Amino acid sequence: MCGIIGYIGTDNGVDYVLDGLKNLEYRGYDSSGICIINSSSQTNLIKQVGGIDKLVQKVKTIRPNGKLIIGHTRWATHGKPSISNAHPHFNNDHNIFVVHNGIIENYLEIKSKLIDRGYKFVSETDSEVIPNLVDFYYKKIGSLSEALRMTLDDLRGTYAICLVSTIEPDKLFVSRLGSPLVIGKAGNKIFVSSDPSAITNRTKSISFLNDYDVAQISLKKIKVFNQKDNKPSFAKFEIINQRNEQNNLGDWPNYMIKEINQAPEVVELAIKGRLSPKHQIKLGGLDDVSSQLDHIDRIIIVGCGTSYYAGLIGEYLIEEFSDIPVEVELGSEFKYKNEPISRSTCLIAISQSGETADTIAAINKVKDFGVLKLGIVNSIGSTISRITDAGVYCHAGNEKSVASTKAFIAQVTVLSLLALRLAKIRTKSFDNLSEELLKLPDKIRAVLGQSDQIQKLAHKYIKYKNFLFIGRKYNYPIALEGALKLKEVSYVHAEGYSAGEMKHGPIALIDKTFPTIVIATKGDLYKKTISNLLEIRSRGGPIVLITNFKDQKIKNMVDDLIYVPESHEETATQIITVALQLFAYYFSLELGNNIDKPRNLAKSVTVE
Ligand code: M6R
Repeated sequence: MCGIIGYIGTDNGVDYVLDGLKNLEYRGYDSSGICIINSSSQTNLIKQVGGIDKLVQKVKTIRPNGKLIIGHTRWATHGKPSISNAHPHFNNDHNIFVVHNGIIENYLEIKSKLIDRGYKFVSETDSEVIPNLVDFYYKKIGSLSEALRMTLDDLRGTYAICLVSTIEPDKLFVSRLGSPLVIGKAGNKIFVSSDPSAITNRTKSISFLNDYDVAQISLKKIKVFNQKDNKPSFAKFEIINQRNEQNNLGDWPNYMIKEINQAPEVVELAIKGRLSPKHQIKLGGLDDVSSQLDHIDRIIIVGCGTSYYAGLIGEYLIEEFSDIPVEVELGSEFKYKNEPISRSTCLIAISQSGETADTIAAINKVKDFGVLKLGIVNSIGSTISRITDAGVYCHAGNEKSVASTKAFIAQVTVLSLLALRLAKIRTKSFDNLSEELLKLPDKIRAVLGQSDQIQKLAHKYIKYKNFLFIGRKYNYPIALEGALKLKEVSYVHAEGYSAGEMKHGPIALIDKTFPTIVIATKGDLYKKTISNLLEIRSRGGPIVLITNFKDQKIKNMVDDLIYVPESHEETATQIITVALQLFAYYFSLELGNNIDKPRNLAKSVTVE
């Protein structure tokens, strides 16, 4: 949520920062701003409500120059999107400028103390207390870096902060606690970003700040110290091998459709080098914890949103192939539970961004229990990948559309590999799943080939304002995910339900204005799901059936039918999900919504 870019260098960095903000726009897009300090220590503060393009236009008319710059794209928490609430925020003397991600929980208390001391505030934000408190301490002690440290000591909550000031116009000051921040070095240019993917087109040499790190960055030196004990540490740079192709739309009209169409390639990348044609599983990221993994007797999977639904599929998969019991928990619930946990438990955190606050909190909750902590993460080098003991990257590439699509496909693929890795014996099902994973990319390509049919379906149902999605076993989490996707990008009411639960309440909703998307795949549960379908039909509810089973009898019992390629039930999940993603996409397209940046949402939820 929100994005930060900072720059210090020998060139004019305005375009670099605007370009970085463009890359970060998917993190928050209700307003943005930039503060440029030029070589005569003059400042240019430019803010705009709306997307980054509006900021770029405004900057172009002013044509500022500067070698010390901070920029921010906002997802509103405290105060509506407005110029005064947009970052950077500044002190009363207009010489200290700050961009901030996170939430300062005690800002009202700090604000009132500062008001008592004569400070004036122009925004409704929590962030504005930061430059003013730094100002207060600076005036007392005369050191900007020490004033920042004292300010950080007073803050409660989470933050990633980047500060510039005309008092020391050759430095960027940064700090983090519970919100990501990285430094990137490229010769005589240094970048700061809340997301490495926003600057990997400029440099692959990245240093990840840890909680309580405070860094003072000049072109001569990067000084890092610990906020709590003031002890110096150092910025350790590593090379991040992140592909940059994702930052371009190419010929696609938006990222959601581009990313849905990347699914076949995503599966190929997720299994590459991990699943051999002879069905050997090699998950290199787990090598160091191999023996620990062989002794676990319980798995808790944590995640939020779409990643949580991937976890629910993981539960079925792992329990199918191993004898290890699995529970799946929402990060936001797990962290407040009084859960008895033994050392032989393994916690698996699933996250696309690797920065979701609730999932991080769930991992931190078990950190003193001696449990094995694994991550299934997409963003390389993200917080979750660094605070877990080991893990498996999804390798789906940077996902820019707020609605997660390709990352989910990769997560389920990785969970399938993990289930096979945990299998104690090689059964027929083991070979079937391995075989199916290898065939999966082509089967997904076939669904993508049905895009026109799915678009027509979305067009036919566009008048409806409510949808029910139902399925059993693997298709239950898929129903939940299909409903989430539709509501996120279309803003229509959509509920996912287990088909078996329908009679316990939701069937009361059914009438001719409330269509149901039924997911029923070939296998033991097909007939049971069809019984549920018939119950809906008897009550006049319109029905769309998505199936991989060519059952001639069913044709006349449904309003619409989508056949997807046949496969075993474990891999049918990804195939059907792509069809549901396309349905949500075309629905939103027809409504004319901002597909990649749905209202009120942010890509990465880094606050609780
Ligand atoms: O980055 P994460 O996978 O941890 O994010 C979790 C959820 O915030 C995310 O899946 C969210 O539900 C998406 N908007 C779904 O499309």
